[in-house]
Amino acid sequence: MPHLIAPSILAADFGNLQRDVEMLNASNADWIHVDVMDGAFVPNISFGFPILNAVNKIATKPLDVHLMIEDPDRYIKAFAAAGAHNITVHYEACPNLHRTVQFIKEVGCTAGVALNPHTRVDLLKDIVADLDLVLIMSVNPGFGGQKFIENTYHKLHDIRSLSNVNNPNLLIEVDGGVDISNANKLINAGANLLVAGNSVFSSANPTDAIAQLKAVR
Ligand code: DX5
Ligand code: ZN
Repeated sequence: MPHLIAPSILAADFGNLQRDVEMLNASNADWIHVDVMDGAFVPNISFGFPILNAVNKIATKPLDVHLMIEDPDRYIKAFAAAGAHNITVHYEACPNLHRTVQFIKEVGCTAGVALNPHTRVDLLKDIVADLDLVLIMSVNPGFGGQKFIENTYHKLHDIRSLSNVNNPNLLIEVDGGVDISNANKLINAGANLLVAGNSVFSSANPTDAIAQLKAVR
């Protein structure tokens, strides 16, 4: 399967959000990555429903909602209503993860689970068959523009092996510090969905930056 690109609007210009989402609509981006942070699960607050609703009105591509929040069950229905296509919750935030995953599917979304850099991939062994997506964090969640953590490659190999045995259609997403210098190695390690924030929106030509990430083999 050719890999997908999901630019993260966390790095967009919020004073020109409509312009930036329209740029994504016209680009080679496959999904639009939406980072929701609550100031409790992570040490930063990003945005919530008013912004998501505004983006949903403009976006013509699936919204990939990454919830960096405690107790996400409280809001899953509301995120589905606000236009989420995929909802990803953090393993570390969900004591009843299997129930949370079923809940996401019941509201009509695809279900993802994210792992922080310190969380072992094999913890997903008994749930990977129920998932649509696994997100491997390649930075500590909370901020854009951080340095990529090299151990991510091992984790991508591990989740690719688990997926080959238990769920060959699994989307394997990598998020944090992704750019044109590591995209090829990430895909070879097993990723098939690349999130990119700063490397897209801080580039002189974001549309080209997306096209370059998409063209990596
Ligand atoms: C970090 C977020 C990322 C972030 C990536 O907590 O989950 O999606 O926007 O930004 P870059 O690509 O700049 O590291
Ligand atoms: Zn993210």
